[in-house]
Amino acid sequence: MILVTGGAGFIGSNFVLDWLARHDEAVINLDALTYAGNRENLATLAANPRHVFVHGDIGDSALVASLLERHQPRVIVNFAAESHVDRSIHGPEDFIQTNIVGTFRLLESVRAYWNRLEGDARPAFRFLHVSTDEVYGSLSRDEPAFTETHRYEPNSPYSASKAASDHLVRAYHHTYGLPMLTTNCSNNYGPYHFPEKLIPLMIVNALAGKALPVYGDGQQIRDWLYVGDHCSAIRCVLAGGKLGETYNVGGWNEKPNIEIVNTVCSLLDELRPREDGKSYREQISYVTDRPGHDRRYAIDASKIERELGWKPAETFETGIRKTVNWYLQHQDWVANVQSGGYRDWVNKNYADRQA
Ligand code: NAD
Ligand code: TYD
Repeated sequence: MILVTGGAGFIGSNFVLDWLARHDEAVINLDALTYAGNRENLATLAANPRHVFVHGDIGDSALVASLLERHQPRVIVNFAAESHVDRSIHGPEDFIQTNIVGTFRLLESVRAYWNRLEGDARPAFRFLHVSTDEVYGSLSRDEPAFTETHRYEPNSPYSASKAASDHLVRAYHHTYGLPMLTTNCSNNYGPYHFPEKLIPLMIVNALAGKALPVYGDGQQIRDWLYVGDHCSAIRCVLAGGKLGETYNVGGWNEKPNIEIVNTVCSLLDELRPREDGKSYREQISYVTDRPGHDRRYAIDASKIERELGWKPAETFETGIRKTVNWYLQHQDWVANVQSGGYRDWVNKNYADRQA
């Protein structure tokens, strides 16, 4: 079986659902159920004996040691993290605790487990650390996209904490020989994306008749990948990745934020027109920028294509249409995640941003 951490979050739950649909191997899903973890994402697995959910923290060494001992996983995929840049600006502490200290404790638990593995189990074992393109910092408009050898220049508490975890993973391979793989992926979008991030926030706010808050001039560029393609890339790296290597994962889809927001509005105009016949674009509101806002991310994904034959299946056009449709069909899911805690966050992040 495999152990997935953070498998109740956005990408983790997509990965668990995809994995169980494609493989015979069972999944142990360890998740602390922070505000971003949602068991409803896994509701279709309620009666599936190949999915075992464990509510717990990657930094709980006793719990992790007992899970490893009992289930003897062949693979660990580490998604667990604090993942939202704006939250890291308001309060970095949780990011340091989970992304750095938590990853360190997890690595220590795994080191002890791996050292005790015998026979074929030891060479077969893999630890895949899921990271982000944000560790490379910001690009100017003309610079080439990030390759795996681009230097680390993290700019936010989030990206700095992910960079630190990447370095720990690298060191555990180099020093202790642990069989590590790292993926650095660009911005994901798709089903089960928590509506604090750009694309789901815009869909949810548009449908609720609220403002669509675009930070600064809206010309910041992100490189978007449909979440199902991220999951297939991780499976591909697990199957064929070279130990100790990192693989950049991206969709070759660089777009300025304002273009993303306009695309979401156009799709909603087509699929769920406003009652007054006007476009959802009327709701766009330019607001105060994010401090230290990275201007451009772009991933050069040629290594994973050349060495492992991976390519994204979705274009941005197909992926964003699927995504908007998913949110239109899952209004209950949206309503359930907008708890009191969610409303507190929206007030905290947007109240002081003047239009
Ligand atoms: P998310 O915030 O939606 O989910 C994170 C999950 O981790 C939640 O279920 C949460 O409960 C769990 N978690 C948090 N702290 C934990 C802890 N201490 N122990 C156990 N579980 C814990 O994040 P996501 O967008 O799904 O991202 C998953 C991973 O992918 C993260 O490591 C992130 O850095 C990385 N990543 C995300 C993106 C993106 O666009 N979302 C892009 C590249 C890389
Ligand atoms: P986000 O989804 O938070 O991902 P990240 O910061 O990790 O790239 O934001 C994507 C882009 O959208 C980023 O440039 C910030 C911008 N943004 C807005 O303009 N308005 C918003 O309300 C949010 C949440 C993000």
